Amino acid sequence: MSHNCSELGRRIAALRKEKGYTQEKIGDLLNVTPQAISKWEQGNAFPDTLLLPPLTRLLGVSIDYLLTGESAVGKTGPYDGEYRKEEFYWGIQPSELARQIADIVQDDTENRRLLDIGSGEGRDAIYFAKCGFQVDALEISAPGVEKIKQYSQLAGYAVRVLQVDMIGYDLSEAYDVIYSCGSLQFLPLAERRKHFDKYKQQTKPGGLNAHLVFVEKPFIKLAPDWETNEFFFSSGDLARFYHDWEIVRCEEKIVDCNSAGIPHRHAVNCIIARKIEP
Ligand SMILES: C[S@@+](CC[C@H](N)C(=O)[O-])C[C@H]1O[C@@H](n2cnc3c(N)ncnc32)[C@H](O)[C@@H]1O
Repeated sequence: MSHNCSELGRRIAALRKEKGYTQEKIGDLLNVTPQAISKWEQGNAFPDTLLLPPLTRLLGVSIDYLLTGESAVGKTGPYDGEYRKEEFYWGIQPSELARQIADIVQDDTENRRLLDIGSGEGRDAIYFAKCGFQVDALEISAPGVEKIKQYSQLAGYAVRVLQVDMIGYDLSEAYDVIYSCGSLQFLPLAERRKHFDKYKQQTKPGGLNAHLVFVEKPFIKLAPDWETNEFFFSSGDLARFYHDWEIVRCEEKIVDCNSAGIPHRHAVNCIIARKIEP
């Protein structure tokens, strides 16, 4: 077997152990024998191509990473091509959820800190900065990050840009608001609870978490630009993650979208939740 095959095997074994899975458990979840997993890990066989999406989901990495050992950061963000263009793919108007947050948080406290996860080209991050927040914009895409920097300079509202992968990012700072709009579908299912627990933990008492996520509905077609590393939420997931917080707003609706230049619809769930200390 080739060098690449044994490298791949080593990565599978390391990620499996990191996640606390046995070969039996992975075999069970993928419907293959533990011996097959052992062969992959020793570099004596290659997983079937059709198994790569569920395998990478379990291991919490992209197919790119599993096959090449290289992180997608700065190389293959899903919207890199669009973000390189001069026009703004997501527009420059803030989202409805961002406006709602600005309406709710109207005190004049200085240094209110906000984290925007998956900021894209910065439409919401820069709006929040304009509203007086100290904003950290977290984004994987290098051209996206460039655009946020340029746009923030042009608009005259500073944001701190973190070019990182939200999946591996160890959130260690505390925020008044942790916010995301249409980006948490990139968190693999097995990782999701851990990340939401961290967002909750890193929110200051009285602070807010606000998210817009895509939910799966049998009557809504898959968006034309939906990628294999994007995973739907189910109705009720967000309310469950925040069951022990005050739910300020929680709504589910169908919205129109024109990404990829093809009109389509999404079912989305938006939540605004407040951390109340017992
Ligand atoms: C649908 S876009 C939404 C952008 C922005 N929130 C907005 O509403 O304009 C999702 C964003 O998440 C970013 N993203 C995808 N995977 C990511 C990851 N692993 N870490 C950080 N950002 C990621 C994408 O590059 C993209 O900019």
